Amino acid sequence: PRTVTRADDGALTIGGRSVRELATEYGTPAYLLDEADLRARCRDFAAAFAGADVYYAGKSFLCKAVVRIVAEEGLFLDVCTGGELAVALAAGFPPERMGFHGNNKSTAELTRALDAGVGRIILDSFHEIDRLTALARERGVRPAVLIRVTVGVEAHTHEFIATAHEDQKFGFSLAGGAAFEAAVRVLDDDVLDLRGLHSHIGSQIFDTSGFEVAARRVLELQAQIRDARGVELVELDLGGGFGIAYTTQDDPSPAPDLAKRINKIVESECELAGLRVPKLSVEPGRAIVGPAVFTLYEVGTVKDVDGIRTYVSVDGGMSDNIRTALYDASYSATVAGRVSAAEPLLARVVGKHCESGDILVKDEFLPADVQPGDLLAVPGTGAYCRSMASNYNHVPRPPVIAVRDGESRVIVRRETEADLLSLDVG
Ligand code: LLP
Repeated sequence: PRTVTRADDGALTIGGRSVRELATEYGTPAYLLDEADLRARCRDFAAAFAGADVYYAGKSFLCKAVVRIVAEEGLFLDVCTGGELAVALAAGFPPERMGFHGNNKSTAELTRALDAGVGRIILDSFHEIDRLTALARERGVRPAVLIRVTVGVEAHTHEFIATAHEDQKFGFSLAGGAAFEAAVRVLDDDVLDLRGLHSHIGSQIFDTSGFEVAARRVLELQAQIRDARGVELVELDLGGGFGIAYTTQDDPSPAPDLAKRINKIVESECELAGLRVPKLSVEPGRAIVGPAVFTLYEVGTVKDVDGIRTYVSVDGGMSDNIRTALYDASYSATVAGRVSAAEPLLARVVGKHCESGDILVKDEFLPADVQPGDLLAVPGTGAYCRSMASNYNHVPRPPVIAVRDGESRVIVRRETEADLLSLDVG
């Protein structure tokens, strides 16, 4: 986060508040959100992609306060379930500025989206085309839709593996001809308003060459559709996936550089394909909210295991951040409540769950005097941590605290044991 500094007593501060005070007031673990940083990231993306629509991908983290921030900062919103749609609507987000994703949207979800007047629905299967066409006919409405195209490019983490990813559940295959067939079917039926094509190649991407291949392939399809049906689609969505720095090894591009490269790619591919440049949109999630949050934990035990490794256990774990266990993701950690002059010690930060894979930070140098009661901050936890949190071992999920200009407020309250027990009807 941008507003993080060290106070005179050595404690980290975020948004003008000391983590020591925040820990006392709200308890640990807690997700601390630097609201100024989140707002700045929204603005950076909106400014960099001026002329394009920037959809914040709500799956990365969604709650009403964040929906309002995203709206105030001029972004659009991508939701992918009825639940996310409900949060967005409850926060008063303008439905016409929402896009609705998902590979298995139910009739109930599509009905809700139509009734709410969601701005566009991204079609993902032939069954969905049939379902939505029937619903739109019944209601006499003409919803705007995009077709999600699987371009055969998978970009994940630092790797870029061309052609590797035809074999997955999302979208219509380009190579197999399904994407063309879907577009033709929607156009010929003329019940849905086909605005354009969509492609999302993966997440935590650092290299724009994946977007280049995706744009080229999607625009070739667009030219093919024009040649077959005389219709030139007016929109192009290249999805999200822009990488962030989790550790010092990661070197993400700033939003203006990304925007410049992507605009250039789209323009030159359009020229090649003889197409007018469509209205562009992108769907960043992680790059908007990821860096704006760190998780604050308290150390409970420090264990030296036979001189092999030191395990530092904190009061959360894989239930508030599954990414290390699930994706082998890398994070860093720092003692947040004080500074120490002690020698660095190579440690592993682990949680409190009954599972040896419950690792938060695989390797980190912590001061050798790290001890129970120390506060520990793990940065970069804004995206896909609270949103993927679980109640494994009946551990209640941590709150999200927004801090700005010396003021803090709870935007998602801490779950309680009573919350968990309230579901148990036995
Ligand atoms: N648009 C679409 C259609 C998507 O499927 C996604 C992410 C995004 C946008 C946003 O991607 P972002 O900019 O946040 O990378 N749980 C995984 C990430 C899953 C991403 C799923 N789709 C993780 O923790 O890394």
